[in-house]
Amino acid sequence: MKVIAFNGSARKDGNTALLISHVFEELQKENIHTEMIQLAEQKIHGCRACYKCFNLKNKKCFFDDDIINTCIAKMEESDGIILASPTYFGDISSEIKALIDRAGFVARANNNMLARKIGAGIITMRRAGALHAFDSLNHFFLIQSMIIPGSVYWNIGIGREKGEVAKDQEGINTMHILGENMAWLLKKTGK
Ligand SMILES: Cc1cc2nc3c(=O)[nH]c(=O)nc-3n(C[C@H](O)[C@H](O)[C@H](O)COP(=O)(O)O)c2cc1C
Repeated sequence: MKVIAFNGSARKDGNTALLISHVFEELQKENIHTEMIQLAEQKIHGCRACYKCFNLKNKKCFFDDDIINTCIAKMEESDGIILASPTYFGDISSEIKALIDRAGFVARANNNMLARKIGAGIITMRRAGALHAFDSLNHFFLIQSMIIPGSVYWNIGIGREKGEVAKDQEGINTMHILGENMAWLLKKTGK
């Protein structure tokens, strides 16, 4: 079993990466393989709306010029997918939105290839907007026919400077319960 996480922060190894690592701790306890791809420092562009993925149906974005096709392949080979993002102006980062739009169209063009995988969103913020950003991530999972585990709070951690989210005990605890629930669901669904 494998879970792939995408860190949509423009800042590598920051608060969003830290939250992902706490979810991973619980998954690893259950022998679930984990991998994180950080989108920071990547040149990523959004969907060009060419609709060629619907003609080609080859599980790839027609524009094979950045990391997105690698991300799509990683999504397909995994049983669980984590999309994580800091809050930027009350919503998700443009990097994670580009992944959502392009992977989302490719998946729908290829017989909903992500259906029934387990999906979880994670958001960091300094002050406000996390819940709206969290909803944006969940829109992806829900339209892909994916299954979303919950936690004891929405999957949000609070912090501004790199590493500051470690002080948000409730946020960290929320990540651990999310990891436990994700592992439980993966095993129950026999993935
Ligand atoms: C361009 C930009 C916009 C931001 N907008 C918000 C915001 O709307 N609300 C908020 O609470 N924090 C906002 N922040 C703060 C980040 O969400 C916060 O620092 C977060 O912990 C960063 O995560 P990272 O360390 O993984 O990059 C913004 C940061 C940046 C760079």
